[in-house]
Amino acid sequence: MRSIPPGGCAVVIGASGGIGAALVAGLLEDEGFGTVVALARRFTASADGRLHRGPIDVTDEASIAQAAEALPRPVRLVIVATGALHGGGLQPEKTYRALDAAALMESYRVNTVGPALVAKHLLPRLAPAGRCVFAALSARVGSIGDNRAGGWHSYRASKAGLNMILRNLAIEVVRRTPDTLCVGLHPGTVDTGLSQPFQRNVAPGKLFSPAHSAARLLQVLDGLVPGDNGNVLAWDGATIPP
Ligand SMILES: NC(=O)c1ccc[n+]([C@@H]2O[C@H](COP(=O)([O-])OP(=O)(O)OC[C@H]3O[C@@H](n4cnc5c(N)ncnc54)[C@H](OP(=O)(O)O)[C@@H]3O)[C@@H](O)[C@H]2O)c1
Repeated sequence: MRSIPPGGCAVVIGASGGIGAALVAGLLEDEGFGTVVALARRFTASADGRLHRGPIDVTDEASIAQAAEALPRPVRLVIVATGALHGGGLQPEKTYRALDAAALMESYRVNTVGPALVAKHLLPRLAPAGRCVFAALSARVGSIGDNRAGGWHSYRASKAGLNMILRNLAIEVVRRTPDTLCVGLHPGTVDTGLSQPFQRNVAPGKLFSPAHSAARLLQVLDGLVPGDNGNVLAWDGATIPP
């Protein structure tokens, strides 16, 4: 990535996921990063050349703090690629009649609070000068302005909350470190476990492979300009309305 000073560390949280794993692979191909740290719930600490792996659970703040402590400096890029749409008591609601307090809370816990706590512990690790990026995988359906279909209450609301957190981070962080940008990313509809039950209605050619989506997202991150700070950008670089 030409916009980020070489030799630093890139971190992917949720590296066991479809998009997270593809982002790690894409970052390893980029010689610009001295270390690529892949963090996931099921990983144990290990290192293989430039690839370092370690454990993290974004619903456990102590594990986030521990993972942050272990990061090689300087950290230049953080991508939060965790998220949940179904499973573990979650099922996208088709109607408000299906709203369930526990599911709403769980969605918020994983999709909003998790990335917020990652920011709390990892933003202080970013290099104080030179371009750094903190990005989190959001979703187009988290846009309030773009919502014409309804449904998926808890997932949409949790991603809208994440987008607000990202905008807030962007405003605060740029005051002290003007070269650091915070953005959300929409990866397109990607063939992963998360989208698998909902792929039937996806038009042919619109279902991306994780590798394709990751490559486009890394391009978007490389092309960020200060005006993108706090925005959510899609895989093609388009800004998604709040
Ligand atoms: N796929 C799509 O079409 C699509 C579209 C729009 C947005 N997105 C967003 O893109 C991101 C990545 O999704 P994906 O498609 O790659 O899904 P995925 O393959 O299901 O990956 C989800 C990742 O999140 C991790 N995760 C969930 N809860 C966690 C926790 N408490 N602590 C740590 N990790 C946790 C999973 O870890 P485990 O392996 O341990 O379960 C996995 O690494 C999500 O934020 C999703 O909302 C995806």
